[in-house]
Amino acid sequence: MSKPLTGKVALVTGGSRGLGAATVRLLAEQGADVAFTYVSSAKQAQAVVDEVHGKGAKAFAFRSDQADTSRAPALIDDVVAHFGGLDILVNNAAISVAGTVDDPDADTAALDRMHATNYLGVIAVIRAASRVLRTGGRIITVSSGLGSRVGAPGLADYAATKSGIERYTMGVARDLGPRNITANVVEAGLMEGGMEPPDPETLKVLVGSLSLQRMGHPDEIAAAIAFLASPTASYVTGAVLDAHGGYNA
Ligand SMILES: NC(=O)c1ccc[n+]([C@@H]2O[C@H](COP(=O)([O-])OP(=O)(O)OC[C@H]3O[C@@H](n4cnc5c(N)ncnc54)[C@H](OP(=O)(O)O)[C@@H]3O)[C@@H](O)[C@H]2O)c1
Repeated sequence: MSKPLTGKVALVTGGSRGLGAATVRLLAEQGADVAFTYVSSAKQAQAVVDEVHGKGAKAFAFRSDQADTSRAPALIDDVVAHFGGLDILVNNAAISVAGTVDDPDADTAALDRMHATNYLGVIAVIRAASRVLRTGGRIITVSSGLGSRVGAPGLADYAATKSGIERYTMGVARDLGPRNITANVVEAGLMEGGMEPPDPETLKVLVGSLSLQRMGHPDEIAAAIAFLASPTASYVTGAVLDAHGGYNA
């Protein structure tokens, strides 16, 4: 495989599992030194690090709770101290909490933690990273097809977090464009082996609404992220790349 990311340093939030782990592996295969975060899966994070090292590339895992926005500046400082700089930020870490807005038993604490993790936490990391990203830098925000169309009941809060970070990323493209830093969104689709899927009935509705009529594999979404991280995508900014099997087609 060619290594278009040689000499680049990447930070992938939430790299211990699912799409984040697939992205860590792919960016490392393409030559980047890859830092990533996790919050509770220390063993899985170490397994990802070991796998990358086994292939002769560099990765380092930082435990950093994205719901705690005060952690973001220290996280970025740690990445720079470890790898010497930062070129690529992939905002991947997120959680999913479902429930209709009129549910009297809604777990509002869990919903609030989702808003903190998926929205405020992403903003805090982007703000901190923007201080140090080098020219030619890349910010890639992982959203969801639900960021532009909700499509089923019980997903209002999750969809709102994704829609919010999409718009924020567009603003980032405007703010950092003069520094030759791009900012784009990947709208991921339902993935095998990723976060807890919605209830079976909702899952059936969502998969049935896809052009490809199947869930995606994390590697298929990671490929879209790697494209936006690559030198090839130098004139792509403020864009939304749909990698969700044709949810909007
Ligand atoms: N799975 C899907 O079907 C789907 C569909 C559309 C979009 N997406 C989006 O794709 C992205 C990845 O989803 P996924 O399915 O790969 O998720 P996942 O398998 O549940 O993995 C989530 C990752 O985020 C980390 N994380 C969660 N909360 C965190 C926090 N507070 N601080 C730091 N790290 C945290 C987890 O760390 P720990 O391992 O330590 O918990 C883990 O590494 C998300 O942005 C999600 O919204 C997913």
